[in-house]
Amino acid sequence: MSDSPTVHRFPAGFLWGAATSAYQVEGAAAEDGRTASIWDTFCRTPGKVFRGHTGEVAADHYHRFREDVRLMAALGLTAYRFSVSWPRVQPTGRGPVVQQGLDFYRRLTDELLANGITPVATLYHWDLPQELESAGGWPERTTAERFAEYAALVGEALGDRVEHWTTLNEPWCSAFLGYGAGVHAPGRTDPVAALRAAHHLNLGHGLAATALRDLLPASAQLSVSLNLHALRPLTPSAADQDAVRRIDAVGNRVFLGPMLEGAYPEDLLADTAHLSDWAFVRAGDTKEIHQPLDWLGVNYYTTTVVSAAEGTAPAREDGHGAGTGSPWPGADRVGFHQAPGEQTAMGWVVDPTGLHQLLTGLAHRHPDLPLMVTENGAAYHDEIGEDGTVDDPERTAYLHAHLTAAHRALTDGADLRGYFAWSLLDNFEWAYGYEKRFGLVHVDYPTQARTPKSSAHWYARVARTGELHPPTGG
Ligand code: FCB
Repeated sequence: MSDSPTVHRFPAGFLWGAATSAYQVEGAAAEDGRTASIWDTFCRTPGKVFRGHTGEVAADHYHRFREDVRLMAALGLTAYRFSVSWPRVQPTGRGPVVQQGLDFYRRLTDELLANGITPVATLYHWDLPQELESAGGWPERTTAERFAEYAALVGEALGDRVEHWTTLNEPWCSAFLGYGAGVHAPGRTDPVAALRAAHHLNLGHGLAATALRDLLPASAQLSVSLNLHALRPLTPSAADQDAVRRIDAVGNRVFLGPMLEGAYPEDLLADTAHLSDWAFVRAGDTKEIHQPLDWLGVNYYTTTVVSAAEGTAPAREDGHGAGTGSPWPGADRVGFHQAPGEQTAMGWVVDPTGLHQLLTGLAHRHPDLPLMVTENGAAYHDEIGEDGTVDDPERTAYLHAHLTAAHRALTDGADLRGYFAWSLLDNFEWAYGYEKRFGLVHVDYPTQARTPKSSAHWYARVARTGELHPPTGG
């Protein structure tokens, strides 16, 4: 597959993309009928988001999407992963749609298609309509039912132009950071609510997949994007291996089990039995969740090192900021450790071997399931230089190292179909506000000026040629 030890060739038709999400880039938070999502509410809650930043304006993608699509085309991207804002198309989370909201996504996808860019639409990237949260949110079963109805409405509106559909982005974050740790919206810290949310996100995925399958053309590709944790034991001891097993259960298999194998892992039910009897899982639910998928999206940033920490308080050094709750119900006695090595501006260690581990592990267990890296990237302290350019060699090195790992997974048998850099643009990084820059393209927020960073130019060459050269290889 490679013609020299350092040049790697990806298969023809491999999708080369970049990703964003609605609340992080769109802005226009109160325009054309959009109402508040849980993130609008969370941002207004003092102390939750860095310096009180909000997504009200963000990268103004709602108004500047044409310029942004032109940028993608200039960079040679062949795919764009974006998310649809539920409160923009169905403000109260139930009932009729707002056509103006849907029209935005019609215009965006038309523009993409006119530029030869494949749209990959995610239906839920964390922006639950506030009204649904006020009615109980993801811990309640009705939210899953509402989600399937919303998915069908969007499917009907865009099904003629969007082939790739993703139900949920990172349901682990929605359930466990949102309802367990409280560091994401809606900021609840209730371990049982987090488990209930995980199940209803799973159910929402299954119901939405069924609804979409019924109405979309046979060529439609259905998927879900999971932030799978690439886990490492601190030592080879049995106790540390058991810590890996616990975090794998509540971090990964809580979704992979029902979605890909039609059952919750027995060990997860046992680990959490003191919290819940899981009676919220009704007969037939796991069958409903277990829908055929056309590919699985993997979002990957870093590895997680864990150990047994008998008798100690739950460690909070798990890279998700200081919350007041735990995102790991049933795994209180697990310690989290900083792996050695270089870190990004998020404090996340750079370790591309985790990506290879996840892709080959999935390929081994689910050999017929195509894979897509739907997010991978890094935050660095980027600055515009005096000459007006943004030089970010660390990001180029990060992308190069991870694409090398992805290529190695391909040669080791993973059926990898595409790669999406997170993110196209600098944007609203959730609780970190605008403090963290993940973009290939720099955004100067006061003027909204876009400047492709040197990593964008490097990535453009990869996208245009399908070849991965060393970062300094010209
Ligand atoms: C992922 C999210 C994405 C972005 C990156 C850095 O967990 O899906 O929205 O915030 O992390």
